[in-house]
Amino acid sequence: MARLLVVGGSGFIGQAICRRAVAAGHEVRSVSPSGRPEDAAGRWVDRVEWTSADLFSPHTWRDRLRGVDAVVHSVGIAHERPQEGVTFERLNGDSAVITALEAERAGVDTYVFLSSAANYPTARRAYLQSKRRAERAIESLNMETVVLRPGAVYGPDQPHFPEPFNWLCKIVDSLDPLAERLGEARPLPVGRVAGVALDAAVDPEARLLTVEDIAHPN
Ligand SMILES: NC(=O)c1ccc[n+]([C@@H]2O[C@H](COP(=O)([O-])OP(=O)(O)OC[C@H]3O[C@@H](n4cnc5c(N)ncnc54)[C@H](OP(=O)(O)O)[C@@H]3O)[C@@H](O)[C@H]2O)c1
Repeated sequence: MARLLVVGGSGFIGQAICRRAVAAGHEVRSVSPSGRPEDAAGRWVDRVEWTSADLFSPHTWRDRLRGVDAVVHSVGIAHERPQEGVTFERLNGDSAVITALEAERAGVDTYVFLSSAANYPTARRAYLQSKRRAERAIESLNMETVVLRPGAVYGPDQPHFPEPFNWLCKIVDSLDPLAERLGEARPLPVGRVAGVALDAAVDPEARLLTVEDIAHPN
């Protein structure tokens, strides 16, 4: 059994990671601004220690790192609110670097970063640039680091796409020859992404996991 901290465990992919980690018998904590997600249902929710905190004020959540074996960072935005300081640079890049530095300082063994294969379709290039910057910043820290680069991730209650696109992703993913030909644009089910992230946190075997790696886990 491992002790995991999912930064952004309240989000779409983060919840799926927490749910799987609980089911696998791990001790799970989450830190995010909202804390316990109101929309989440199921017994697993009560088995996660939810903390509501500002990620950019590490002193408010640093104690959550005590005794943690692995940190999974699943924070990001697809739409900026620059007037509020919510930018790709800050959320997709800086938040990962800050939490990774905190994890290293706390003696965490493994840090898993949910990056991205491509730019979000309607976003400026800073979406992906900030992810790549964070990837480079964490790679030489003194712990195992694993970067996941999924493309579009679909599943129930997907918050970013209209529902018809979510269904289209599911259909495309079920048609194996077509999905294979899409390469980096291949959509991935949220359960698979969460499973690969969890496996990487518990047993890091590779430093970079592409769409292909996530689609065909060992
Ligand atoms: N979904 C996809 O198709 C997809 C594809 C490729 C890569 N990714 C990457 O996977 C990661 C997770 O994506 P997701 O779809 O699960 O996103 P999500 O559902 O929007 O969840 C994002 C998480 O980020 C936190 N967050 C949002 N705004 C924040 C802010 N201003 N300050 C601090 N935290 C904030 C949220 O916390 P609260 O709940 O407290 O707001 C939530 O826990 C992201 O890094 C994303 O770039 C996603």
